[in-house]
Amino acid sequence: MSDNLGSVCDVQGDKVSFFLKKDLHLSFGQIVKIDSNGSDFYARVVNAQSKSTLDTGEQLREADGKEAFGPYSSYKSVEAMLFLESKAGRVRSPIFNPNYMDTVYPMNAEDAKMLRLAGELEIGNLRSGGETLGSVGVDINAIPRMMGMFGMTGSGKTNAELMINAHIIDNSPRTAGLIFDFAGQLLEGKELGNKGLCNHPLFHSKVSFYSTKEEKMRVGLRTLQPWKLRNLYSDITDPQYRLAQKLHRRFGDEWIEKTCEKYELSGPSGVAETVPAHKGTINALLQKLTHLDPRLFPPSKYSFIDQVTKDITQGVTCLVDISGVTVEEQRHIVCLTASGVSNYYKRSWESDYERWLKLPTLLITLEEAHEFLDPTRERTIFSDIALTYRKYRVGINAVTPRPSRVNPDVFAELWTKLVMKTELKADRDFLTRNTPYLEYSDTEIKMLDIGEALLISEPKIRFAVPVKVKHYPGYLANRETADYDLPQSDLLEKLDKRLKKLQHANEDSGIT
Ligand SMILES: Nc1ncnc2c1ncn2[C@@H]1O[C@H](COP(=O)(O)OP(=O)(O)OP(=O)(O)O)[C@@H](O)[C@H]1O
Ligand SMILES: [Mg+2]
Repeated sequence: MSDNLGSVCDVQGDKVSFFLKKDLHLSFGQIVKIDSNGSDFYARVVNAQSKSTLDTGEQLREADGKEAFGPYSSYKSVEAMLFLESKAGRVRSPIFNPNYMDTVYPMNAEDAKMLRLAGELEIGNLRSGGETLGSVGVDINAIPRMMGMFGMTGSGKTNAELMINAHIIDNSPRTAGLIFDFAGQLLEGKELGNKGLCNHPLFHSKVSFYSTKEEKMRVGLRTLQPWKLRNLYSDITDPQYRLAQKLHRRFGDEWIEKTCEKYELSGPSGVAETVPAHKGTINALLQKLTHLDPRLFPPSKYSFIDQVTKDITQGVTCLVDISGVTVEEQRHIVCLTASGVSNYYKRSWESDYERWLKLPTLLITLEEAHEFLDPTRERTIFSDIALTYRKYRVGINAVTPRPSRVNPDVFAELWTKLVMKTELKADRDFLTRNTPYLEYSDTEIKMLDIGEALLISEPKIRFAVPVKVKHYPGYLANRETADYDLPQSDLLEKLDKRLKKLQHANEDSGIT
């Protein structure tokens, strides 16, 4: 076979070395196939070295130009790790390894198909050297098994998020998304070729947009029952919480307004007159309540979270733009919204299983995830979702440039991981140490280009797939051509014939 890359020179356990033929090129992470006695083994390139048959002394003398040595061979040997074996159409983890002198081939489109990498939520294409092969994606049932996207600034995380969510919209009402946009770039695609979710063909019917700049996005104080304070303030203490419950019982839905009024009028003693409590507890709770921005938290019974929940249950993806408000307010909105929606799923599962069965599978996209999943800070609703919401079909996509700041327990629950270029050693170490199948990929993660990634999606994809993520503007452009390329329907053809007949009749009778 002329297209082979070389032949195996050494095999130890799951590590295979082979000599690469002269003038051929490979890249770190590239998948190669080894044809071995009825089995095909697939392996990822993890290392390469170039050597000659001269010893070190001879090499040095030759490099200095002091002596020229007779004919000698130089060679390049490549190290690859086995990850899959295919025998008689069955694919599984390798149960043995190849033999000395087995032939090594690059992957082709047929092999790519056999690896079954395509999924309903398409991300991009398989990279093999400089080429791209078949489609790579994640299945819908991978959503509740949680996801993460990691990569340094500018590595292409937001673009990858857009690709996933575009397919979530396409798969409505089986799926729905809840996206928190911290930078206000997803609607119009700022820095992404000015193509955002508003350019998606189903935007008007399958996407709802909420922005802090609009009246529509408000959380009425009268909708804030005491239990919601736990999501709003993760540092709330038990005495403060009990005080809030008592105030709620005393004043009903207007408890925050009435308590704040009393506090402003006569301080903690004013509140203590109604509900006796320790002065320190009253001050601490009221410190929180009086600081709720009245622009976002007006004294009303309307909450946009109810509308978001309704949209999502109908398969409408919600884009929540939280740019332009303080970090603290962003945190409030994100935690309240995510807990409101995910609790709806939990309650439905517990009390109305039939209704729950009809709910779309939900993916919550959370940028700046390290801010919400940091083990050194207070717990948020997101660690609860990551650890316990799988059975309710609620998943999160934790997007962050700083994976090492994500709680390792939560990180271990992210079964789908898209790893993009990461320069910071601490983050690379964290990724390779805590992700199976990435243990040899440190160099590769450092070398990735913009839009290139490694994908693992257990249990279906149990190795690191090199992916070229599709650029969202390009995906939209292709989609449009695909949409316009439809065959002409019978009905239109018939209409056309009838129109022509009418035109002829008119021409015959002199009407124009
Ligand atoms: N797959 C891709 N193909 C081509 N260009 C891409 C791809 N992904 C991203 N880009 C481009 O790279 C730039 C950075 O992408 P993006 O905004 O997605 O990165 P990011 O990781 O979200 O950055 P940040 O951390 O700053 O938010 C953009 O201009 C985008 O258009
Ligand atoms: Mg981004």
